[in-house]
Amino acid sequence: MQKNDDFEFDKIIERHNTNSLKWEKYALQDIIPLWVADTDFKVAPVIQAAIEARKDHAIYGYTRANQQSNQMVADYYQVKYGCHVKAEWVVWIPGVVASLSLAIRSLSKHHDQVLTPDIAYPYFHSTPLASGKQDNHLAMSYDQGRLRVDLEALENHDAQAARVMLFCNPQNPGGAVYTQSELERIDSYCETNQLVLVSDEIHADIILDEDKFHVPYLSVSNHALQNSITLGAASKAFNIAGLAYSWAVIANPSIRQDFVNEMHGIVSEINPFGYTATLAALAHGEPWLTAMNIYLRANRDYLIAEFSLLPDINMSPSSLHFWLGWTCLSYN
Ligand SMILES: Cc1ncc(COP(=O)(O)O)c(C=O)c1O
Repeated sequence: MQKNDDFEFDKIIERHNTNSLKWEKYALQDIIPLWVADTDFKVAPVIQAAIEARKDHAIYGYTRANQQSNQMVADYYQVKYGCHVKAEWVVWIPGVVASLSLAIRSLSKHHDQVLTPDIAYPYFHSTPLASGKQDNHLAMSYDQGRLRVDLEALENHDAQAARVMLFCNPQNPGGAVYTQSELERIDSYCETNQLVLVSDEIHADIILDEDKFHVPYLSVSNHALQNSITLGAASKAFNIAGLAYSWAVIANPSIRQDFVNEMHGIVSEINPFGYTATLAALAHGEPWLTAMNIYLRANRDYLIAEFSLLPDINMSPSSLHFWLGWTCLSYN
């Protein structure tokens, strides 16, 4: 395995004037932009090499995924999370937010409510509204530094004939990693209320606590597998979000077909560079990813130690990098 030094996580790279969404937002102000999950690390050398090889071909026409690339996603779930995914369940989309919209539209044609965590990544509230639905909020609990859907409140929550529940694991914001038993309770609520759960797992590979691990919702039960859409991407963990590439895993053929039908005329062909970078990340990115998580863990621990010296400020010992310096501070 390469050492951290080889990956240059300490190197400061100027990003102003590169049309960076993150850095242009507060361009002329003395603000460190920590508002978006976009790190300032160079990509893994294996990704850069794959992009350069693709660039050298100098033809960037319409691109399509194939059985082999779908199988790479299936292998990723098997190797990383020990769960079985079939290549044919994989659908490629330019982004997870687009998939939230497609899922709501394809699943909720005759339903006007979408269940969604009360405190969530903003698109969890705006995509239902943009799709002509109301967002029916699920209460949250905050306990021992974990902000998550309140499971006691959930069990008594009136699903009001909604068909879809949006879910984020690890939870953004807050970084809570749901446990197997918590996921089982959510699955059981979905079964009782005949809900399909859309599980945004985009941050799954950036878990900093060594005693925590990600459980894909689709692995929880056969009901969960057959009644869910799992959204994933290499974009956050490997800092390639600008290459607009992600996947949905949909085991149920009828849910998958409806989702794919909804893409018609809206979602264009895949980006060759996003495709190349994602496959390189899945196939060869693990050593870099492991090193990045170690590096981020040390940054997180440093921040916790420094903030603990300041009066009236608490820092949540969160698990995810994007939480650091964003909304992690609470004032007494
Ligand atoms: C939970 C969550 N889902 C989705 C996204 C964005 O995904 P994409 O860029 O693939 O649309 C983000 C970005 O921060 C996120 O935090």
